[in-house]
Amino acid sequence: MKFGIIGSGDVGKTLAVALFQSGQQVMVSSRAPEAIASFIDENPGILSGNPFETASFGEVIINCTPGLKSLDALLPLKHALYEKILIDLSNPLVFPEATLLPSAVNTDSLGEQIQRLLPETRVIKTLNNVNAKIMVNPELLGTLDHVMFISGNNFLSKQIVTDILKDIFGWKHVFDLGDITGARAQEMLLPLWLRIFEKTGSAAFNFNIVKKA
Ligand SMILES: NC(=O)c1ccc[n+]([C@@H]2O[C@H](COP(=O)([O-])OP(=O)(O)OC[C@H]3O[C@@H](n4cnc5c(N)ncnc54)[C@H](OP(=O)(O)O)[C@@H]3O)[C@@H](O)[C@H]2O)c1
Repeated sequence: MKFGIIGSGDVGKTLAVALFQSGQQVMVSSRAPEAIASFIDENPGILSGNPFETASFGEVIINCTPGLKSLDALLPLKHALYEKILIDLSNPLVFPEATLLPSAVNTDSLGEQIQRLLPETRVIKTLNNVNAKIMVNPELLGTLDHVMFISGNNFLSKQIVTDILKDIFGWKHVFDLGDITGARAQEMLLPLWLRIFEKTGSAAFNFNIVKKA
């Protein structure tokens, strides 16, 4: 499968390497090619392009841009993203406070805003509430008994992304929260995630659902 990764920060690079090592074709975007030249040199076979080239290349696109920049980053890619799956793992965090953008909580979310911006694109929210290393290797926690949430309007696309999570990254439990309004819950986990991170000093954790047997 061909993946286009928009954004070449920690998350974009981590996903690119994991996808490429699993045998996928991968292009990573940078607005300044020199900024990822050394990464491309160190990872022969991974391609680089500008954001539009990357969105055109991929069959599945992954939004790895900062949440507050995502709408501006994705709008120019609208035609390249037409009817494609867009995995959105961004968080609408305002720094340095690391608070959620007030206009993207409770009755809205960044995932929904992206879906409204790109109505013909199949936006699937997932992976936003774990550290990049865990996204691509959930077994790093020493167990697979923890859950990855997913939401999106298109059932078939959600199924394809679920298969990617399980077959490529090794997730065992993928919990479907329903349509893209589920992104509200996924993004609003971030204050809890950040507080746990602050208290434990480690990003090596995730959430699980414990049900009565
Ligand atoms: N870090 C984590 O472990 C983690 C975990 C879960 C979710 N997330 C979410 O994942 C996203 C990426 O996180 P990160 O830590 O990788 O961020 P980052 O290091 O800041 O990288 C973001 C990348 O986005 C690109 N970018 C910025 N503005 C852009 C624009 N207008 N158009 C196109 N590309 C643009 C930049 O690449 P170029 O300058 O090269 O174009 C930049 O390298 C965020 O939304 C974050 O909340 C992160």
